[in-house]
Amino acid sequence: MSNTPKSLKDHAELAVQKAYAPYSKFSVGAAILLESGEIYTGCNVENISSGLTVCAERNAVGKAVSDLGGGIRIKEVFVTNINEHGKTIHCSPCGACRQVLAEFSTPETKVSYHGEGDITTTTMKNLLPDGFDHY
Ligand code: THU
Repeated sequence: MSNTPKSLKDHAELAVQKAYAPYSKFSVGAAILLESGEIYTGCNVENISSGLTVCAERNAVGKAVSDLGGGIRIKEVFVTNINEHGKTIHCSPCGACRQVLAEFSTPETKVSYHGEGDITTTTMKNLLPDGFDHY
């Protein structure tokens, strides 16, 4: 049996293991599938100066843009988490991450995350209706 991750969820579940969350004890992992077929992941990286913490989703986007440039387009996103009791709970991307994901997404980009005991799948336009745009 191979341990090669297959689904976006599998990638997010590997990423969440790398989280650096000693303060909140809430680990987050994100995986983004690009239109090119490439998958990038990120985890939250906390800081003793709380405001400097960076969320998993934004780290995934930062890694992708750093490697591939600003032309990336996000097709799909999966976000998972593990709380201090080792449980995965309802958690949708925060507002800041929605705006950063939207920068490289289309309104139809699929976003999945853990909902109430289940996985919620929605679209970028549902998560960030009327997001900031000055063009
Ligand atoms: N966090 C994320 O990584 N993504 C989100 O969309 C919301 C919150 C992280 C930040 C912090 O390290 C921890 O979750 C608790 O807020």
